Amino acid sequence: MTKFYRPLFAVIGAVIVSAALASAPPPAATVELPLWAYGFVTPAAPGEKATLPGPPTHALRPNEDAGEQKRPRHIAGSTGEFSLLEIRNGHDVVDWFPGDHPPLTPIMKNGPASLGEKAFACAFCHMPNGKGRPENAPVAGLPAAYFIRQMQDMKHGLRASAEPRKANTLLMIALAQAMTDEEIKEAADYFATLPPTPWIRVVETARVPRSKIVTNMFVPVETEPTEPLAGRIMEMPENADATELLRDPRSGFIAYVPIGSVKKGEALVATGGATVVDGKPVPGKTVACATCHGPDLNGVAEIPGIAGRSPSYIARQLYDIQQGTRKSPLSQLMQPAVANLSAEDLVAIAAYVASLRPAKP
Ligand code: HEC
Ligand code: HEC
Repeated sequence: MTKFYRPLFAVIGAVIVSAALASAPPPAATVELPLWAYGFVTPAAPGEKATLPGPPTHALRPNEDAGEQKRPRHIAGSTGEFSLLEIRNGHDVVDWFPGDHPPLTPIMKNGPASLGEKAFACAFCHMPNGKGRPENAPVAGLPAAYFIRQMQDMKHGLRASAEPRKANTLLMIALAQAMTDEEIKEAADYFATLPPTPWIRVVETARVPRSKIVTNMFVPVETEPTEPLAGRIMEMPENADATELLRDPRSGFIAYVPIGSVKKGEALVATGGATVVDGKPVPGKTVACATCHGPDLNGVAEIPGIAGRSPSYIARQLYDIQQGTRKSPLSQLMQPAVANLSAEDLVAIAAYVASLRPAKP
């Protein structure tokens, strides 16, 4: 056991831990990959997989109009003035609202020093306020010790995506590998101070606006909901241009979820789905999440909160843990919670959890 795991074992107590680890994890259920959670609509072809994306570039592309790309842009409430070229510079993050967060540290603004100009900055994908986006991760308010463990897990091959085409996860892992322990601590401390606040509006519906996929994120291309939701969760920006073009860190997301899914998810999360049949208790297919994630699911000590976080992110993690691509010793505590979940359960749990109010524990 590495030094990163020791503190949490002490915190949550030897009893739960030994009970969970004593029973070997059941074989991963053969649940179809929830494509929506990974930002795809069709399954990978056999052998198809992502390659590591290249270094950040904000050069003008051949098909682009220089005037349009270089003219200054504004966001209501910000005195900032940045061009689209500056906004998409992954190595030098623009800061629309410096008052919303502590000063950006070097790792936040420019990324791991060992990569030089090739580094992507943490605040580029996760935003200076830590809100993140559905295709990466909401990191505001994560316990620093948990955060540090995740970086170590990615560094040491204990955390990868179950979807072989997810290029940004490969990039995330490469960044973790390039970071020093000091940089990891700097990032963990920065994000830990940020308050998790409501960011996702959960809407039960049968139809969603049609969308296009931009680096594993669904971006609406119309306003009328004409496409059947078909049992998925579709998480999209409230305002496509604000999120996609301007990277407005105050413009949130809508999660379209199937009708009835929030209530179904609540039952699973609250009791694990246990019922009583003919006066006898019948165990559910999962276990009550609050036991470990805290009464409001906002986390306890080094266990992360899950309330109000991106449903795409939540479902991806549940699936990655179930399938064993996320396999650190501590994530194995989650096996009883995920082993028997179906694709429909993943949707229900993610929908309910996303509808809750996030807060500091
Ligand atoms: C290119 C975009 C990108 C950049 C830049 C990036 N990340 Fe990430 N990060 C991701 C993605 C994608 C995930 C989610 C992986 C998944 O779901 O498979 C992630 C997940 C994480 C998580 C896991 C959160 C959790 O709740 O477990 C942490 C921690 C993290 N990133 C830290 C960092 C740090 C520190 C940096 C700066 C060096 C950084 N990231 C830069 C894309 C990025
Ligand atoms: C026995 C304790 C335990 C129970 C019960 C439990 N969890 Fe967890 N969960 C953990 C631990 C510990 C982690 C952190 C794993 C790690 O460090 O990699 C975690 C991580 C997670 C994550 C990943 C968070 C992130 O930021 O990446 C999600 C999502 C999650 N749990 C959801 C649930 C849900 C939903 C339930 C109930 C159905 C549940 N958990 C029940 C202990 C538990």
